[in-house]
This record gives sequence, C-alpha cells and structure tokens, in this order.
Amino acid sequence: MKSTFSLLLLFILSLSFSATAKDSVDTIDQKLKSLTTQLKLTGIPQSTSPLPSIESPLAQLGMKLFYSKALSGEYDTACVSCHHPMLGGGDNLSLPIGVRAKNPDVLGTKRSLKSGYPIEVPRNAPSTFNIAFYKKSLFHDGRIQNISNKTITGIYTPDVDYQKDDLLAGETLVQAQARFPIVSIAEMRGGFMSKAHNQTVRRALAERLKDKWLNEFRKGFSNVKGDREELITEQNISYAIAAYEQSQVFINTPWRKYLQGDNKAISTEAKKGAILFFTSDKNKGANCSSCHQGDFFTDESFHNIAIPQIGIGKGAGKSKTNDIGYAAVTKKPEDKFRFRTPTLLNVEVTGPWGHSGAYTSLEAITRHMVSPLKSVKNFDLSQISQKNIKLDDMKRNTQEAIDAGIEIDDINTLSNDDVKNIVSFLKTLTDPCVKSRACLSPWIPKKTDNDPDGLMLHGLSSGSGKLL
Ligand code: HEC
Ligand code: HEC
Repeated sequence: MKSTFSLLLLFILSLSFSATAKDSVDTIDQKLKSLTTQLKLTGIPQSTSPLPSIESPLAQLGMKLFYSKALSGEYDTACVSCHHPMLGGGDNLSLPIGVRAKNPDVLGTKRSLKSGYPIEVPRNAPSTFNIAFYKKSLFHDGRIQNISNKTITGIYTPDVDYQKDDLLAGETLVQAQARFPIVSIAEMRGGFMSKAHNQTVRRALAERLKDKWLNEFRKGFSNVKGDREELITEQNISYAIAAYEQSQVFINTPWRKYLQGDNKAISTEAKKGAILFFTSDKNKGANCSSCHQGDFFTDESFHNIAIPQIGIGKGAGKSKTNDIGYAAVTKKPEDKFRFRTPTLLNVEVTGPWGHSGAYTSLEAITRHMVSPLKSVKNFDLSQISQKNIKLDDMKRNTQEAIDAGIEIDDINTLSNDDVKNIVSFLKTLTDPCVKSRACLSPWIPKKTDNDPDGLMLHGLSSGSGKLL
C-alpha cells in the first residue's frame, strides 16, 4: 500500500517536473529567438572575397604550394607546418615552431626545435579556416589591412608606410598575407638571403620552382601553353595559395541549423549559454556579442583584453618581451595592447587560444573573457605544457596591458554553470567537417599526388607518428 502510494506520488511529481522542464525549454527558445531576430542572425557569414571550390585547378595548385617546403629558405618549412587542417587550421601549439624543427614533418604538440634553438615566433598561429570572411584586416594586429576609402582603394601591408597602398599586395587580404610568412625569418625564411629585401627574396623563391613546377602552374592557371616566366611568379604563387585558403569554408554548424529552425540542433545548455553570449552585462548577460558580433562573430576591431603575455613577445615594454599589438601598426598610444577580435567559428578546435596561446582549454579562455582580472590573477602557468616558452615576464607584461586600460570589466554575476553553458554554446559553432579526416581529405594532398620536386610536406601526427 505504502509503496503504491509513493509510486503514485513519484508519478505525479515527475509529470509536473517534465511539464515545467518543457515550459522552460520553450521559454528559452523564445528568448533566444527574439535575441537572434533582433540581431538579424542567419548563421551564414558573408564574404567579399572569392570562395573557390577546393576542386578548382587554382585551389589544387595552391594546396601543393601550401604544403611545399620549396617556399622556405632552407627547405624545412611549409605553410602547413603551422596551419594543418587536421589541427584546426593551426598547429595545436601555444607558440609555433617554424624553421629548424628537429623533425620538420612532425606537426602538433610534439613538434620541437633542434637543440640549442629558442622559440622565436612571438604569437599563436591563427586558423586558416574561414579566413576569406575577414573584410577589414588579417593578423592579430591587423597589419594587413583593407584601406579602401574615398580617396584610395588598396591594401596596406608592412612592406609600405602605414595606410599606404601596397601595389604588390595582390587582389585580396588573403593573397596579401600569403606573401609574408615566406620572408619571416622565424617562420619560413631562416638564414636565406639575410641581407635582401622582401621582394628580392620572394622572386628568388619563385625562381626555384621554375624547373619542375611548370605543368602544375599550367594546370592551375588553365593555361596549357603558358611559359614559365609568365606563370611562375611570386604574384601567382600567393594568388594560388590564397585560392586554397579561401576554399576552406567551414560554416555548417549546429548553431546555423538552429537559426534555420531546427530547435533540436543544439542542447538546452548551449541555448542558455547563447542567451548569455548575446545579452549585455547591464541585462545580466556576458556581453560577448558586443565584440564577437554577427554571423562571423567579430566586429573586426581591436581591443585590449589583457591575454596573459607569454613568450618572447615583440620586444616592447619594460621587460622587452611584451607585445603592444595594434599600436605597433598605428603608432597611436590608445591602441596599445589591442588585438583584433577573432572569429569564434570552429573555436573548439583552434586552441591554444589568445594571441599568445596562453590558454590551453576552451573553458579557461572563456573564464578569462568573463572575468579577465580574476583570470590573470589566478593564471595557472602549468597549463602550458609546451617546452622552452619564456614565462617569467608574464605577470609584469600582462599588468602593463591591464594598466593601459583593459576594456572588459570582470562580470561577477555569472555562476560556474553559466560559464559552462557559454562553453557549450561555443561548441555549437563547430562545423563537424573539421573533426573528420574523411571530410577534410580534399584539403590534404594524397601521398600518390604528383609531387613536382619531392618537397611536399606530408605531416606526421605528434601522437601516433602516422600521417595526418
Ligand atoms: C612558423 C609557423 C607559421 C608558418 C610556417 C606560417 N604561418 Fe601563418 N601564421 C603564423 C602566425 C604566428 C600567425 C599570426 C602572426 C601575427 O598575427 O602576427 C599567422 C597568421 C596567418 C594568417 C592570418 C590569420 C588571421 O586570422 O588573420 C594566415 C591567413 C596565414 N598565417 C597563412 C599562412 C600561409 C599562407 C603560410 C605560408 C605561405 C603561412 N601562414 C605560414 C604562423 C605560421
Ligand atoms: C571588448 C571586446 C570583447 C568582448 C566583450 C569579448 N571578447 Fe572574446 N576576444 C576579444 C579579442 C580582442 C580577442 C583576442 C585577444 C587576443 O588574442 O589578445 C578575443 C578572444 C576570444 C577567444 C579566443 C579565440 C581564439 O581564437 O584564440 C574566445 C574563445 C573568446 N574571445 C570568447 C569570448 C566570450 C565567450 C566572450 C563573452 C564572455 C567574449 N569573448 C567577450 C574581444 C572581446
């Protein structure tokens, strides 16, 4: 009798629980829908650059160049050394290792330098995924910039004075960017032609391809009779590499499905996180979308949010190991320690996070964005497992950024669960393709593909030593 009664009670209780649970899911959906409607979100970022198919001949040529060590001064590095599709379009390291790797073909967390060489790349390698959607600038400090305005149309690069048009930049930000890693000493150039100007180095690298790459360029530029002088130029190299990168469009996210009406595409936790993400701090939200705006999740502006400054930096500040970001480009004091707001699409797979790669978990970077001062104060250096990163100036450097005017106030109203819900939401911004070797295979050359000079880098996984 007693047990029947308690069963009945349990039944009634569970009925009423599921009823409230259902109600609250509906209210959560309503609340979130009203936010996303207000913000006119569609889940589909818009691009002003071309988005070629990876199957197009130009992107195929670009892929081979992206994977070729022939473009590095000492034949030991390729773009893919730091931007592999299986590593989120990055390298899984806090700070990259370019030239002088112990084994140049090992990519990921076990990539290491030959003994005696220090880590010299000062910033984390961002993902190349969806790079075509940036309209204003590339690099953490925006030093490749669209300067189209009433008087000039063009692209600024570090080869010219600030806000001047670099006539050799090429057609898009992505092409303009691709001309710089090959002349960066720590990334790809090494000791090659150390006294020469950037453009001389680029021409010399192009010259190397003239023997063996003619057929590849003829195919890539659909010009069967083209001659090597006309086809194999530093401009065409960056143009083709850009096509490969611009084909890396990974925007088919659960979040987009949700916006298109599939309420089951994301979890209740993620929906709660999304509400916080899109609600201002005044209204008890996390205020993320004030900077991570729109369908590409960025305002493409520069902000000082005091990510812990690890590594050797850019030679700034009292310690000479700090990095003042955008101010080094604009020379304006108010831009000190500002960095470009990055997209958050696929952010789950693009760690470590922040311009210095200081955060090695998505939850930790999210906590920083919610309460930066608290996060910097409690920063756990042991999360950086990568060897040989300079850590001893971190506190002092980061304090300089905070003192220069950090732009986010700690939000103390959010609970642990709130933070976890925001992380759940961030994970709905992952296109499942970026987690699947099979789906990514069009962006990775096959061992059987023609390798014109035998210099193609086939990345080996840090963990298994197998091909990535
Ligand atoms: C040694 C590692 C390394 C190599 C090799 C390398 N990169 Fe990068 N890449 C980086 C780092 C670090 C940054 C960020 C630098 C900065 O912002 O100052 C970057 C930035 C970029 C960006 C801009 C991303 C953004 O969000 O603005 C693109 C695009 C890119 N690299 C493409 C390439 C291409 C193309 C090549 C080959 C020609 C290449 N990279 C070679 C490390 C590397
Ligand atoms: C004031 C503008 C601003 C606000 C508000 C803001 N962010 Fe950011 N966010 C940035 C900037 C700028 C960076 C890059 C900083 C750097 O690398 O030094 C960044 C970086 C990130 C990164 C790392 C991305 C990567 O690829 O390394 C994540 C994740 C992130 N933000 C999430 C959030 C979340 C979640 C919120 C809300 C709790 C938020 N942000 C609020 C400007 C902002």
